[in-house]
Amino acid sequence: MSAPPLQVAPSLLSADFARLAEELRDVEEAGADVLHLDVMDGHFVPNITFGPPLIAALREHCKLPFDVHLMIEEPDRYLEDFRKAGADWISVHAEAVPHLQRTLARIAELGAKPGVVLNPGSSLSLIEEVLPDCHHVLLMSVNPGFGGQAFLKSQVDKARRLREELDRRGLPTLIEMDGGLAPDTVAEPVAAGVSVVVAGSAVFGRDDRGAAIRAIREACER
Ligand code: DX5
Ligand code: ZN
Repeated sequence: MSAPPLQVAPSLLSADFARLAEELRDVEEAGADVLHLDVMDGHFVPNITFGPPLIAALREHCKLPFDVHLMIEEPDRYLEDFRKAGADWISVHAEAVPHLQRTLARIAELGAKPGVVLNPGSSLSLIEEVLPDCHHVLLMSVNPGFGGQAFLKSQVDKARRLREELDRRGLPTLIEMDGGLAPDTVAEPVAAGVSVVVAGSAVFGRDDRGAAIRAIREACER
């Protein structure tokens, strides 16, 4: 199967929270494909970020698809709220959901693109049975909770094995990777089959967001 086109998804977590609307315009003009939004509840992960009201407020300032990464316990309780707020892609952690297939089907029923997320320590076997229900699989290449952590190279092999499994079964599911991705780390996972690259500090940590996004794309072409 031919490789899906590369999509760069800046993660808002590293943006300047005092001027979010401008930050969104900036990355949209800079050529981002998707906007990644990290929702944290202080329970599933040690950090707290934002919820549906903030996402709804940002929706009118940006045309990019909103990729909402839920790092929360009991995500089923909030799926409808996130969809109403403007989430286009919604992903839940396999570690946080007891009835994964039902949750993914519910996300699709709400009209969003369902995704499942795996922590670095979680095995692909957790999601094998639900791959046909997933628009995307998000592989964490850091332990979730914070931006700016070091890339865990061990996750490249997981991406490769997932790519092989998807190809073997002829599934169109996208592989997204999140954590520590920057021009110096992104080439290997993309060569292994990742097509959606989340980048927080590598994009918002630089003044020129256009140059930051271009540098990520160029690193993948080499
Ligand atoms: C971490 C979040 C990431 C984070 C990535 O838990 O899921 O999306 O923003 O930040 P960087 O790219 O700086 O590692
Ligand atoms: Zn994320």
